[in-house]
Amino acid sequence: MSILVLNGPNLSRLGKREPDVYGYQTLDDINKGLVASFPELTFEFFQSEDEGALLEKLFHIEDKGGYRGVLLNAGALTHYSIALRDAISGVRIPVVEVHLSNIYAREEFRRTSVISEVCVGVISGFGANSYHLGVRALLGMSGKQ
Ligand code: DQA
Repeated sequence: MSILVLNGPNLSRLGKREPDVYGYQTLDDINKGLVASFPELTFEFFQSEDEGALLEKLFHIEDKGGYRGVLLNAGALTHYSIALRDAISGVRIPVVEVHLSNIYAREEFRRTSVISEVCVGVISGFGANSYHLGVRALLGMSGKQ
C-alpha cells in the first residue's frame, strides 16, 4: 500500500519562493525527508501546476488501487477549486489536507478552504513537519471515515 504525496501549483518553487513563509527546504528535500523518516512505507510523489493533472492523478490511483491515502497540499487551489473538492469527494481513498503555513493566521482569503470538508483532516502550520504529521494521521486510519 502506497501513500501518494500530491502537491499543487507553486509548490515546485519551494526553497526559492517566499522562504520567510515556506522555509528553505525544496519539495525534493521534503519528499526525501518523508522517505528517510518512514523507510517502511512506499511513497509516490506528484506535483503539478495544473489543476486537471492533479484530478487525473487522483482518479488514476483510485482506479489502480493499492493506495492507503493521499497527502494533499493543493496550494492556492485549496481556496477556490470546486473541481478539486468534487474529485476528493468522489474518491474512496482518504485525503489529508496539509499546508506548510498556518492558513488561518494569514490573509483573510486563505482562511477559507473549499476542500477541508471533504478531506479526512487538515494539518496546517508546521512547515515540512505538516507532511510528516499527515503521514502519521493516515497510518492511524483504516479508510475514509
Ligand atoms: C499553502 C498555503 C496556500 O494558501 C498557498 O496558496 C500555497 C501554499 C501552504 O502550504 O502553506 O501555495 O498551501
